[in-house]
Amino acid sequence: MLWPVPRARANARAMHRITLRRPDDWHLHLRDGAMLRAMAPESARHFGRAIIMPNLVPPVVTGAEARAYRDRILAALPEGHAFTPLMTLYLTEATDPQDVIAAHQAGLITAVKLYPAGATTNSASGVRDIDKVRGVLDAMAEAAIPLCVHGEVVDADVDIFDREAVFIDTVLDPLRRDTPGLRVVMEHITTRRGVDYARSGGPDLGATITTHHLVINRNAILAGGIKPHYYCLPVAKREEHRLALRAAAASGEACFFLGTDSAPHVDPLKEQACGCAGCFTATNTLSILAEIFEQEGALDKLEAFVSLNGPAFYRLPASADVITLEKGDPVAYPAKIDTEDGPVTVFDPMMPLHWRVL
Ligand code: NCD
Ligand code: ZN
Repeated sequence: MLWPVPRARANARAMHRITLRRPDDWHLHLRDGAMLRAMAPESARHFGRAIIMPNLVPPVVTGAEARAYRDRILAALPEGHAFTPLMTLYLTEATDPQDVIAAHQAGLITAVKLYPAGATTNSASGVRDIDKVRGVLDAMAEAAIPLCVHGEVVDADVDIFDREAVFIDTVLDPLRRDTPGLRVVMEHITTRRGVDYARSGGPDLGATITTHHLVINRNAILAGGIKPHYYCLPVAKREEHRLALRAAAASGEACFFLGTDSAPHVDPLKEQACGCAGCFTATNTLSILAEIFEQEGALDKLEAFVSLNGPAFYRLPASADVITLEKGDPVAYPAKIDTEDGPVTVFDPMMPLHWRVL
């Protein structure tokens, strides 16, 4: 049973306050150990649930590992926060379909994550040959377990800015045709091609969009000096693609929902000759999104994007709880979050943020 879904409520003073069902984050990296302890409060402060990425070292591959990781996340949450981690398994060529089904039936996992081997941070154990995971995908289609897909090919001869579009044509579309009924989330889409493909895919296809891909294009990374804190994967593309993503998010269409891909790395690992990919946005995401949706004239669609479309795709109830955002003087966020492993730079949206979460 889905909860009845009210539209975002605005007060009379021309949208100076908006109240939304509590948002969820449908793609989040919480990490482990000291980093997890520092990051769990950053997401739990505003979000009700999050799909937790399994790309730890070593990755979360079995139901038993997902249970243990879930328990570590719950132990890292501050008192009084009702935050639910929705666990995922990292798909490998050795994944046992029976373990996936059992973990899902036991309520331990919500989805399975497909990383093409080598596509991004900690993806070395990912899939090289899709034929080796056919059995798992067929079982998932049968059990309606969503597959979250990192949609980039890894071929060295494909330009990094083309990897998403080539993946859609050469991997994703054939995979969906070969596995009827498979429910797929295109994670962190970055191109107009991704937007168009998600839109045309019917009710079993969804797409997450990150906060940072609504803010930056590739100039933010490369123009006027190299800016490692804007480097993530998939890498931000040209401006026309950012505009397509903004229009998609602000459309309120059911297939598009927030997955921040908030991906913390300590500064020394970002600011070096071969820096890690990942933007850390958990702390200020909702202020950024409210600003963007206001710029788009679409504050009335914010709730669909952050609180309603995701649960509907995952066949979960929308949150019963609400949050309120208020517009006022620019909000200050910390530039960095300190962890026992070192500082993590908070994503700088390069614009003042006027919306604060009350
Ligand atoms: C992610 C990470 O650091 O784990 N990095 C990123 O740039 N988004 C991995 C991922 O989601 O691709
Ligand atoms: Zn990610």
